[in-house]
Amino acid sequence: MNREEAKDLLFKYVKGERYRTHSLMVEAIMRKLAEKLDPDNVELWGIVGILHDLDEESCDWVNNPPVHGPTSVEILKKEGFGDEVLYNAILAHNPLNGYKAGTKLEYACLASDPMSGFIAAVAKVYPDGKVASVKEKSVLKRFKEERFAQGANRSYMLAIERTGIELEDFVPLALEALVEAADEVSL
Ligand SMILES: [Fe+2]
Repeated sequence: MNREEAKDLLFKYVKGERYRTHSLMVEAIMRKLAEKLDPDNVELWGIVGILHDLDEESCDWVNNPPVHGPTSVEILKKEGFGDEVLYNAILAHNPLNGYKAGTKLEYACLASDPMSGFIAAVAKVYPDGKVASVKEKSVLKRFKEERFAQGANRSYMLAIERTGIELEDFVPLALEALVEAADEVSL
């Protein structure tokens, strides 16, 4: 199980540019979190990010939210890729399928998914639209504005605190990760 294989699977099953980019953004945040929380498993944490939305185009999650996650696990099993640790982390990012996060890896995936979208939404408000221009303070300010980027689930993002990292430290970490990854994710 390595990064290149995970990326090949992402590109095989997800054709939309938006979700490919989103998946690589979540990968970048997950790798940065792993450097702090689980330095021996940075690659695995990144792979969770790459594959967490693998079933995006393979199931009707809009009308049937619980299938988002389990369908990715089915695809991965069919492909002979991954193990229970990876599968459970993918399941954990969508509590609507019934699986509840319980490990640091699982909380990290639950929190990194909406954080990537939230920072992208904050970046869009800036004149150059670049994540490099985004200030930590404005992310935290927007976080408190309920009507801003309502699709980004605040309680999921706050789940990062279950790993021992406070939201105030998660935001700069995620910003740094996204700026470093900007070439690949073209933000
Ligand atoms: Fe996602």
